[in-house]
Amino acid sequence: MNICCIGAGYVGGPTMAMIAYKCPDIQVTVVDLNQKRIDAWNSDHLPVYEPGLDEVVKAARGRNLHFSTEVNAAIKAADMIFIAVNTPTKTFGTGAGRAANVEFVEKCARQIAEASSGHKIVVEKSTLPVRTAEAVKRILENSNNGSTFDVLSNPEFLAEGTAVQDLLNPDRVLIGGESKAAIGKLVDVYAHWVPRERILTTNLWSSELSKLTANAFLAQRVSSINAISALCEATGADVDEVAKAIGTDSRIGPKFLKSSVGFGGSCFQKDILNLVYLCEHFGLREVAEYWEQVIRMNDYQKRRFCERMVRTMFNTVSNKQIAIWGFAFKKDTNDTRESAAIYVCRDLLNERAKLKIYDPQVSEEQVRRDLIEVFSYATGTITDQERALIADHVSVVSSAEEAARGSHAIAVMTEWDAFKKLNYESILQSMYRPAFVFDGRNLLNHKHLTSLGFEVHAIGKTT
Ligand code: UDX
Ligand code: ADP
Repeated sequence: MNICCIGAGYVGGPTMAMIAYKCPDIQVTVVDLNQKRIDAWNSDHLPVYEPGLDEVVKAARGRNLHFSTEVNAAIKAADMIFIAVNTPTKTFGTGAGRAANVEFVEKCARQIAEASSGHKIVVEKSTLPVRTAEAVKRILENSNNGSTFDVLSNPEFLAEGTAVQDLLNPDRVLIGGESKAAIGKLVDVYAHWVPRERILTTNLWSSELSKLTANAFLAQRVSSINAISALCEATGADVDEVAKAIGTDSRIGPKFLKSSVGFGGSCFQKDILNLVYLCEHFGLREVAEYWEQVIRMNDYQKRRFCERMVRTMFNTVSNKQIAIWGFAFKKDTNDTRESAAIYVCRDLLNERAKLKIYDPQVSEEQVRRDLIEVFSYATGTITDQERALIADHVSVVSSAEEAARGSHAIAVMTEWDAFKKLNYESILQSMYRPAFVFDGRNLLNHKHLTSLGFEVHAIGKTT
């Protein structure tokens, strides 16, 4: 068996590495147009930071795991082709800001149609709008070189930061399709390490919709607890205590109830917007509005974090230095897509704060790119003044302590474990007084910090 995966990103790379690692009898080639990314996959510095991934890649690379830019050759040689390209929210035309841009998926389908010979199983791995498989099928059917195709949907449920564990031990693997034989072949791949009872098979549309629904439900839980966090701050309740109390109800369960500065990542917002667009398309206005509220609540949570900072710091942060701890959308990843930190930094910059940003995995280049992009969202361009603001008011430093030095406040944006183990006595000495901590992740030991002399403001707690 020979597998090809188009797209060497956060989904394609780790997933294929795991398949190769667990299935030594299968040759796996991951291809991408981006030469830099492929070079990184072939080097000691993988483009994706994931705990445990280095070991998995090292064990399989060169044996039965290959990374290449030779897309056509890999398609030709493969029995099964995964499509794992990005499907960002459309920024132009009909459905802009809501619908998923499936341009890259269509390009892949056309390339597969052209380069194939014989029979191929094409597997959608990217999260796609429901019924995209239909479009992929039609493009493939129009291939005029006599090739034949089966199309399957096999959405990925891994979460970044825990990708290796999620892939090793998935709650379930979902495979949607029409052809029993094709489904059977993909089931056999996963059955190398996943118990068969955890491999669910459905029709194509159920599979596509299940992925959107799973992400919508997860994001909804975060928005629900974040909504309650605002009420906790107003009433004196403690959101972590509330989360614990409700999470012990086995019908609710304890996971995904951690209140935060807001969810980020490449999936939650994009998938809900996509779901909203789909509902509107089918005339289901109430359903669309229901899900849209999850995003509105998340925007509110990010916005009110900055507002609380400004209010607390005597109604002005202008030219005050603030340490931003963490820029990734969650710990244990270098991914910043839709990170709450980006929006909080934008709002603080609009208040003319000076930001000293530190993240253990995110590069300065990425931070600056994200900030320039967020200022460009509304109009499509960034003004000279905004560019100057980022240049003059943002510095990216190489430790949390350095960020705190000379700052009026620390804002914890990402829940990196290392932030829990710092020497807060010496950090306090290096800061202006009052030394504020705004813990956007309820990560730190607030009692200890308060006893040292910090003024701590946490999500869903009164000071
Ligand atoms: C998500 C889904 O979990 C995964 O199944 C799917 O395949 C892709 O989308 P991911 O975005 O990588 O995964 O990370 P996830 O752990 O879901 O976190 C998403 C965001 O929600 C992060 O910003 C995280 O910090 C935030 N979050 C999560 C909370 O604020 N509180 C929580 O309790 C859980
Ligand atoms: P995800 O989080 O869904 O994996 P990424 O953006 O990390 O998304 O990765 C998607 C990858 O797909 C990118 O590296 C991009 O270069 C690649 N890609 C997009 N279109 C094509 C294509 N037509 N052929 C090959 N690779 C592609």
